[in-house]
Amino acid sequence: MAQIFPRAYNTLAPAVLVGASVLLGLLGVCVYAVFWSPYMTHVQVPITQPVPFSHQHHVGGLGIDCRYCHTGVETESFAGMPPTHTCMTCHSQLWTEAPVLAQVRQSLTSGAPIGWNRVHNVPDFVYFNHSIHVSKGVGCVSCHGRVDQMPLMWKAQSLYMKWCLDCHRHPETAIRDLKQVFDPGSPNPSREDAGERMQEYQVRPARFLLDCSNCHR
Ligand code: HEC
Ligand code: HEC
Ligand code: HEC
Ligand code: HEC
Ligand code: HEC
Repeated sequence: MAQIFPRAYNTLAPAVLVGASVLLGLLGVCVYAVFWSPYMTHVQVPITQPVPFSHQHHVGGLGIDCRYCHTGVETESFAGMPPTHTCMTCHSQLWTEAPVLAQVRQSLTSGAPIGWNRVHNVPDFVYFNHSIHVSKGVGCVSCHGRVDQMPLMWKAQSLYMKWCLDCHRHPETAIRDLKQVFDPGSPNPSREDAGERMQEYQVRPARFLLDCSNCHR
């Protein structure tokens, strides 16, 4: 057979191939790193709000229960946002002149709700439901982190599909005592305790929870 390429190419070609695949591999690593970085996921990036409401003060400091403001969380798919008069049960007596609360007073007079910026948002083609999780012992802290330490709210988790699936694959790592579901500082359940509660609360095993049609209906 005629020799088309100079002999040196015999060693060069494999070197180029190896080099190219190393480069591609590095590129893959970079894409993966960016995909999971706060820049893409917005994890731990505080979101500014029209009123600088602090969970650190209201939950961590004053100890107000989540359900006082997020009234739907036990019974509905949406946790819901508090109407302005919920704030006014206290702020009609407290800090009544404070400039930071001007927007709250204005909202009460005008009747227009405060336009909170969303922190968490899964795409429309995903079905999510709070009450299913909360009633089986999955605590707020498992998905939203230590809100009692957040001066402004941020996302503690990516909310990527992989994150949902990781827990659905091992739900026994997330089932806490129902009394601790709303406690923002309760420690993660140990696997053994949670295993027992899986039965007690009749949590369905991974093979049901991983079904595509659960989340894409
Ligand atoms: C006094 C009322 C109040 C209490 C109590 C309260 N929240 Fe909130 N929460 C708010 C308000 C107002 C917002 C909207 C502003 C913001 O995002 O910080 C909010 C926002 C949130 C969000 C982000 C919503 C989004 O846009 O995605 C989460 C998550 C949340 N709260 C969780 C909790 C948890 C968990 C608890 C209990 C441990 C709790 N909250 C207690 C008033 C409250
Ligand atoms: C149970 C009573 C209570 C309720 C309900 C309540 N607050 Fe407060 N809020 C307080 C107290 C007390 C302070 C002073 C906190 C401090 O100085 O530590 C405060 C402080 C604030 C401040 C000043 C900044 C800060 O956190 O120190 C803002 C803004 C505020 N509240 C907004 C709201 C909004 C918006 C709502 C409704 C979603 C609300 N509050 C509901 C009791 C309440
Ligand atoms: C299994 C994970 C998980 C648990 C447990 C959980 N949340 Fe959420 N939460 C989410 C997701 C995901 C969203 C975004 C939902 C969307 O975009 O429709 C969200 C959104 C919210 C919102 C914004 C309003 C809404 O309903 O979309 C609030 C407020 C909230 N959660 C409060 C809570 C509170 C309070 C608890 C505990 C009682 C809690 N969450 C438990 C995952 C969770
Ligand atoms: C920390 C653990 C955890 C995370 C994170 C989590 N889940 Fe779940 N999820 C559970 C558990 C436990 C159940 C089982 C409830 C049961 O057996 O009834 C469940 C049940 C569900 C169901 C009901 C399934 C059915 O068969 O009716 C849906 C829908 C669901 N999850 C959606 C989601 C989505 C979407 C996400 C991510 C945005 C998510 N979950 C993240 C623990 C979790
Ligand atoms: C526990 C809930 C859950 C289950 C089960 C689930 N998904 Fe998802 N899926 C999500 C969430 C949340 C998103 C949106 C976030 C994201 O894109 O990562 C998503 C996004 C997607 C997307 C869009 C991807 C993209 O990059 O935009 C596709 C396609 C998809 N899912 C297919 C599937 C298939 C196929 C299955 C079954 C093998 C499945 N999902 C099971 C929660 C789930």
